Amino acid sequence: MLDALYGLVRPFLFQFDAETAHRITLAMLSTIPVGASPFDPPELAVRLWGIDFANPLGLAAGMDKDAVAVGAWQAIGFGFAELGTVTPRAQPGNPRPRVWRIREHRALVNSLGFPGEGMEAVAARIERLRRQRVRIRLGINFGPNKDTPPERVAEDYAALMRRMGALADFIVINVSSPNTPGLRVWQQPERMREIFAAIDSALPADSRRPPILIKLAPDLASDDLVRICDTAIDLELAGIVACNTTIQSDQVDNTTARQGGLSGRPLRERARAMIRQIYAHTGGRIPIIGVGGVASAEDAYEHIRAGASMVELYTGLIYEGPGLPEAIKRGLIRLMNRDGVRSITEARGTAP
Ligand code: FNR
Repeated sequence: MLDALYGLVRPFLFQFDAETAHRITLAMLSTIPVGASPFDPPELAVRLWGIDFANPLGLAAGMDKDAVAVGAWQAIGFGFAELGTVTPRAQPGNPRPRVWRIREHRALVNSLGFPGEGMEAVAARIERLRRQRVRIRLGINFGPNKDTPPERVAEDYAALMRRMGALADFIVINVSSPNTPGLRVWQQPERMREIFAAIDSALPADSRRPPILIKLAPDLASDDLVRICDTAIDLELAGIVACNTTIQSDQVDNTTARQGGLSGRPLRERARAMIRQIYAHTGGRIPIIGVGGVASAEDAYEHIRAGASMVELYTGLIYEGPGLPEAIKRGLIRLMNRDGVRSITEARGTAP
């Protein structure tokens, strides 16, 4: 039903440039109140960090930076949404155009640079959602402002944690977007330690530390990834989100002249290899949220079999439409039945 509807709507939306289409879509979706959500069979339930997720499928960061359409994400069947990236202060992002479709590859390239309303506006919106007892789980993804000097970047993350930490089911520290100059150097272990020291000192001594994950780039060298995983375990991080968009588009079988981060189908195998490497190196000790190129149940299932505890998507939604989460969930049940697997957790890491 939603598929048929999107079949009609998509040609209309695709007449516009990608960012305008996104704005029209979000404006429509933001009118959907927080209400019912589709039924999820118990086989899809996932429990992580002591939190129950009705299903393992989440909206990836960047689609709803300012938390304006959470009712819609719940209504179309996601188990969670990662909101943001949120920055401490409002900022406009990079000049437009800054999002492009590469239709023949079912991909997007973006160089948005975290446009957003800033943490006060987003926090107020999430406080309202909490009063409405929103059912899906909410992650919040944090990033620094573009004009924050390097010596104050850790303090930006700490400020976000102070204001928003208690509003989220989990937090994602984004150190991997390619469109904020200098951001990716914060993936280095000693820089990670700096961020987490600042975050920990920002939390009142008696407050619970929410689960904190780190989101990584697919462009890391393999030995760097290993060191980052060790540091994540040492810092007792709750998980790793793998992965953000790539700037090495030539290495994922896709050459584009556009400057920015590439997402969607060309990223899929790269993301899966990264999930597999993290899972193998950590022996499954640290949960992975697998993201990159998911546009079908098979895609989601193979990310889980490579080692992901849960899966997120963004670009797939642009090409497949709002029926995608339900289609993926139906397909996951079918694939689990085929393999005699009774839960998502049991399927995790089973790929040879
Ligand atoms: C993103 N992504 C992203 N990630 C993030 O951590 N913070 C952000 O603000 C954004 N913004 C953003 C904008 C646009 C237009 C896109 C396409 C992507 C990255 C996203 O969350 C995800 O990691 C990648 O897009 C890979 O997943 P998909 O899109 O292939 O499913």
